[in-house]
Amino acid sequence: NMQETSSQDVTMITCTAPVNIAVIKYWGKRHEELILPINSSLSVTLHQDQLKTTTTVACSRHFQEDRIWLNGKEEDINQPRIQSCLREIRRLARKRRSDEDLSNDISLAHRVHICSVNNFPTAAGLASSAAGYACLVYSLSRLFGVDGELSLVARQGSGSACRSMYGGFVQWKMGERQDGKDSLAEQVEPESHWPELRVLVLVVSAERKLVGSTSGMQTSVKTSKLLKHRADCVVPGRMEEMISAIQRRDFAAFGELTMKDSNQFHATCLDTYPPIFYLNDISQKVISLVHRYNQHYQDTRVTYTFDAGPNAVIYTLEDHVPEFIQVVRYFFPPETNGGEFVKGLPVGPASLSEDLKTAIGLEPVPKGISYIISTKVGPGPCVVEDPKLHLLNPEGLPK
Ligand code: DP6
Repeated sequence: NMQETSSQDVTMITCTAPVNIAVIKYWGKRHEELILPINSSLSVTLHQDQLKTTTTVACSRHFQEDRIWLNGKEEDINQPRIQSCLREIRRLARKRRSDEDLSNDISLAHRVHICSVNNFPTAAGLASSAAGYACLVYSLSRLFGVDGELSLVARQGSGSACRSMYGGFVQWKMGERQDGKDSLAEQVEPESHWPELRVLVLVVSAERKLVGSTSGMQTSVKTSKLLKHRADCVVPGRMEEMISAIQRRDFAAFGELTMKDSNQFHATCLDTYPPIFYLNDISQKVISLVHRYNQHYQDTRVTYTFDAGPNAVIYTLEDHVPEFIQVVRYFFPPETNGGEFVKGLPVGPASLSEDLKTAIGLEPVPKGISYIISTKVGPGPCVVEDPKLHLLNPEGLPK
C-alpha cells in the first residue's frame, strides 16, 4: 500500500475530511448514545482547500495504550464518543477478517495513536466536530482496511459528522430502526453538480460561551413543542423540496428554503425552556442585509444559514460574490490593519451603487465581522499520499 508508511513496526496513514453546513438542520435526538436524530437533515460539503481536518493514525505492537492529540494537545482517549468510533471500526474490521481471512493485515490487538489538526482556528466557531469525527473514522477505516457503511460509525462520534463522509450535497436519513442501522448519510448529488454555487463564511466576533449542540438539543427535545411539530410535520416535506431544488439547480427555491429552515431552527431554540440564543445583533443585521439585498433585485440571490453560534454562512452564485462582498465590507467596515478581510477563494473587484446602499439602508457596524472565508462545494474525505505530511513521527509521537 503506497499511502501507508511502515517503519520500526509502526504503520501509519493520514487522511483529511471536510466541514459541512446544513441547509435542513439536525436538532434533537431520539437516542443519545447511538446518536439517532428526530428528523432527517441535508447539508453541503465545503471544500477542503479552505476548511479541513487532517488526522494521522498509527498502530504498532510497541504502543502501550490508545492515545489522541487534538490541535497539539493530548486529550482523554476515554471520551465515550471516541470510544464508540474505535469500537465500531474494530468491530467492522473483525467482521471483514472473519469473512475473508486476511492473515497479513495489521493486528486488531495493537493500540493506536491518533493526531488531528484543523486548518482553521477553533476560535472561528465553526462546527469542527463534524470534520473531526469524519476524519477519525475515515483514517481508522483505511488503517484497518475496513469498508462498509462508515457514515454509521461517524454518526456515533457526532451526528453531523455522518454527512462529512461524502462530498457534494448529502442527506442524513433519520431511519426507523431501534439499532440505528438505517440512520445513515447518502450523497444526493456530487460536488460537480452545481459548479457556480459559492459559500461565504462570515466570522462574527463572539464573546460569550454558547450552549453546546449536544446539551442544547437535549433541552429542546424535553421542552419545545415547536421542535416536535417541526420534526414530525415540517421537515419531511422540506427534505423532498430541498432535494428537488438542488437537483434542478434552482437557487431561488434552494435559498428560500435554506433561510426558512435556519429561522425555524432558531425559533425552536427560542421555544426551548429556558430559551437558547445563538444569534447575536450582528447575525440579525446580516439577516436584514440579505433580505434587503434580495428585495432590491426582486430575486433570491443570496441566502444565509446559522448553526449553534452567531457566524453566518452565505450561499450564493459565483456571479454575485464580488458585489455581495462589497456590500458586507461597506456595512461592516473591517479593521484595516492585520490580515486579509477575505480569505480563501479569490474574489474579483466590484463597485457598489448608491442605489443599492440606500436600498439596504442599515447603519454600518465597524468590525462587526472579523473576516470572511470564501469557499465552494467540495469532495469527501481523502487519503494524503505524501508521507512527509504525517502528523506523527516514526515513533508514533506528534512531530
Ligand atoms: C446546529 O452534530 O454537533 O449544526 O450529534 O450532539 O454531536 P451531536 O451534535 P452536532 O449538531 C449539529 C447541529 C447543527 C445543525 C446541523 O449541522 O445539522
